[in-house]
Amino acid sequence: MKIEDKNFGPDFKWGVSTAAYQVEGAWYSDGKGKSIWDVFSNTGGNTYKDQNANIACDFYRRYTHDIILMAKLGIPNFRFSLSWSRIIPNGTGKVNPIGIEFYNRVIDFCLEMGIEPWITLYHWDLPHELEKKGGWTNRDIIGWFGDYVALCIRYFGDRVKNWMILNEPMVYTGAGYFLGVHAPGRKGLNSFLAATHHSAMCQSEGGRIVRSLLNDAHIGTTFSCSYIEPFGQSINDGMAAFRVDALLNRLFVEPLAGLGYPVADLKLLQRLEPYIKDGDESKLAFNMDFIGVQNYTREMISHSHFTPLIWAKVIGADKRNVETTDMNWEVYPESMYEMLMKFGKYKNFKEIIVTENGAAFPDILADGKIHDEKRISYLDQYLKQVLRAKNAGVKVNGYFVWSLTDNFEWAEGYKPRFGLVYVDFETQERVIKDSGYWYSNFLTNC
Ligand code: FCB
Repeated sequence: MKIEDKNFGPDFKWGVSTAAYQVEGAWYSDGKGKSIWDVFSNTGGNTYKDQNANIACDFYRRYTHDIILMAKLGIPNFRFSLSWSRIIPNGTGKVNPIGIEFYNRVIDFCLEMGIEPWITLYHWDLPHELEKKGGWTNRDIIGWFGDYVALCIRYFGDRVKNWMILNEPMVYTGAGYFLGVHAPGRKGLNSFLAATHHSAMCQSEGGRIVRSLLNDAHIGTTFSCSYIEPFGQSINDGMAAFRVDALLNRLFVEPLAGLGYPVADLKLLQRLEPYIKDGDESKLAFNMDFIGVQNYTREMISHSHFTPLIWAKVIGADKRNVETTDMNWEVYPESMYEMLMKFGKYKNFKEIIVTENGAAFPDILADGKIHDEKRISYLDQYLKQVLRAKNAGVKVNGYFVWSLTDNFEWAEGYKPRFGLVYVDFETQERVIKDSGYWYSNFLTNC
């Protein structure tokens, strides 16, 4: 990107994102309780080569090192998540003081290094003890989560202004409670629908709690999204794409925006009704200061007779002869523009921040260097689309790369490497990739 094209404005927030389970390690020490991801990944058959994040990037012990790296690269904002079961081992009740102390140290060290902390309250690692009681399918989670949120604000709110309530509810409900390919590995429509409604309630309720406890809080929540297009020209493919868009892109943001669930466009959502109690509907809405858009790719959809309820299937990027990343996600920068235009139309959010974007490519470490041109090109192209949306009038005011370091990519284990910084998982050695230097240089010049 040329310097003259970099006019994102002086208030634009630049950063990197991580998540507790993917980087921290120390999974069962210093009083931490197990999370659903600890249990899921330590059960054979659930992840790539049965890998787990018991150690991960050892961020728990190496956070100073990683935060210094961030400062060295001139990255001014750091989005990370709190592990609920490190703070409250059983999910409710007794607090773990060593967990609180850990996050105090992380926050304080960020501030000391001139880096602004952005905290995600829930990035998929539910305390296992709560899952034993039904997890997200149990309506009591609205209370459990509320207490946890209030506690975090009381402990950390004096120093942290930027709060995100949930990370990508569509992914953890869909993959974790419908398909069973993510923790807690549950399958079926009923558990998905219950988890969906309770998550949607927590997303707004969490926002209200932060607002009530912290005057100057900057509150948001994040959404996964992909530009959805019909694979063929037929009306059936067009309708299928429309339904998938309602499911993947609209299910959680619309109730938050006061529009309710997109039931009219996706009939299966009528089945949410048994979980919706009197008075819930109005509680689903909340005026966030920002919404976090997380975009990586687009999906092509065709009609299918074999997938009841949604009658649609994804035509994978590998079948379409397109450029892909190591996740088999199509490189399609315009998806970012389309999603910012789409999310920019919802009225009651002040602004949008791209809270995740990035790419996994097979990095090769040679002579202590990683020449990851593909990642640089990916980031450069997606950033151009962010700017294009901004110039088209969308109030997008931040961009966070996923991720600072290579880390544990959920069911895909350590194979996909998303970092600006390479991690040798044997030695825990870090090597800044060319993309890390590129981002650093970009930040200096914009
Ligand atoms: C997002 C997740 C994040 C990471 C990236 C690649 O869906 O929020 O934790 O795994 O994808």
